[in-house]
Amino acid sequence: MDEKGGRLTRDGIRIHEIAEFEGMRVAGKLAAEILDACIPLVKPGATTGEIDAEIERMVNDAGAKSATIGYKGYKHASCISVNHVVCHGIPGGKKLKDGDILNIDVTVIVDGWFGDSSRMYVAGKLARRSERLIEVTHEALMRGIAAVKPGNTFGDIGHAIQSFVESHRMSVVRDFCGHGLGRVFHAPPNVLHYGRPGTGPTLEQGMIFTIEPMVNLGRAETKVLADDWTAVTRDKSLSAQYEHSVGVTADGVEIFTLSPAGRFHPTYEV
Ligand code: MF3
Ligand code: CO
Ligand code: CO
Repeated sequence: MDEKGGRLTRDGIRIHEIAEFEGMRVAGKLAAEILDACIPLVKPGATTGEIDAEIERMVNDAGAKSATIGYKGYKHASCISVNHVVCHGIPGGKKLKDGDILNIDVTVIVDGWFGDSSRMYVAGKLARRSERLIEVTHEALMRGIAAVKPGNTFGDIGHAIQSFVESHRMSVVRDFCGHGLGRVFHAPPNVLHYGRPGTGPTLEQGMIFTIEPMVNLGRAETKVLADDWTAVTRDKSLSAQYEHSVGVTADGVEIFTLSPAGRFHPTYEV
């Protein structure tokens, strides 16, 4: 036991008490509810800055705190990554166009616990190849989550994601990863979305982390723009991402950020 409860593994991964999962349930539910409430906000002509302002308002109305405002100088309550933006898109004045696909990533702090989740949305009509990318990315996340249970390894998670994505001739981004989570935003381990079975730290009951694969229609390489945040695909191909916060239970996994309304697909009716 240490001052935060629980203990650290040799790899520096915090083992939480199962009773502490309650804090994650509350924070994760708020993140998911905010992502549900974003669905009607995403439409052609809306700006990502307007969507972010609504997200900030919802975080405040819930009596929670945004984890991203003030984080390493970041100023917004969300990251909104449109089309070939892979992650960390900065909300701003650009208007969404018909057919744009976007990821909205929200992290809230409730009673000291961090809920971190992101989903895909479409402005207007979803093109068939965008839909394929989005469905493969969501399924990749869920296959990664299905590999979460005590005794499996982080490499098993990465392998489940990578093998599925590559079987669809799409690529997994290597330059960003998931992370340990709990009463801190980014903790060990780095959760890679690629890997070999049986490698990496072993999963234990009480671990809490995100899985957040980014998948590109083209090549995996990314670059960060001059604003020092916005990551884009080098080949300008479309990119998608889904993220859940999860905890390892006695015999499997608990997802803290599931949509209460089951609305993870961009074409679900509002
Ligand atoms: N929510 C992102 C993640 O999944 C982190 C965003 S940090 C920010 O880890 F500063 F860019 F907002
Ligand atoms: Co995250
Ligand atoms: Co996130």
